[in-house]
Amino acid sequence: MKKQPIKIENQKGQLSIERREFLRKAGGFAIMGLFGTSFFTSCSDDIQDPINIDSNSEGINVDGDTITIDLSIIEELNSSGGWLLITQAQTLVVNDGEIKALTSVCTHSNCDRNWSLSDGNFRCSCHGSVFTTDGEVITGPATRPLSQFDVQIDNDIITITK
Ligand code: FES
Repeated sequence: MKKQPIKIENQKGQLSIERREFLRKAGGFAIMGLFGTSFFTSCSDDIQDPINIDSNSEGINVDGDTITIDLSIIEELNSSGGWLLITQAQTLVVNDGEIKALTSVCTHSNCDRNWSLSDGNFRCSCHGSVFTTDGEVITGPATRPLSQFDVQIDNDIITITK
């Protein structure tokens, strides 16, 4: 059963232990880098619901159009399938073999916080649109992709520029 967030500021998710073990055995990052999102879509076993965390999350800093994330603190992004919804910055961050950042403002009708990650794709529960982790539309009613943001990684620090 899907859990609905009560209070949403920042959210994060993670693959099930079984899925992570499967990915680890399959070669983790290297395999994900080779197969990309098509690898995710070939599996269909889990929905990663967001977990509510405190709004002043240690390890995440939002300063205007720049977001920094400390991977030594926000460990969910260290493995494939980890993801965050940073609502105050309207930004989705996912590790699908590489770190990607997208707008969380759905291109259908601008919902920005009703996201889940299912079978490696983002789903907006406002009206059911589904997007790849690159932001491309899989299922409407949305017809336009989610914008991607620039991502730089230096040691454990991710810098996202919108
Ligand atoms: S606002 Fe996302 S599907 Fe309608």
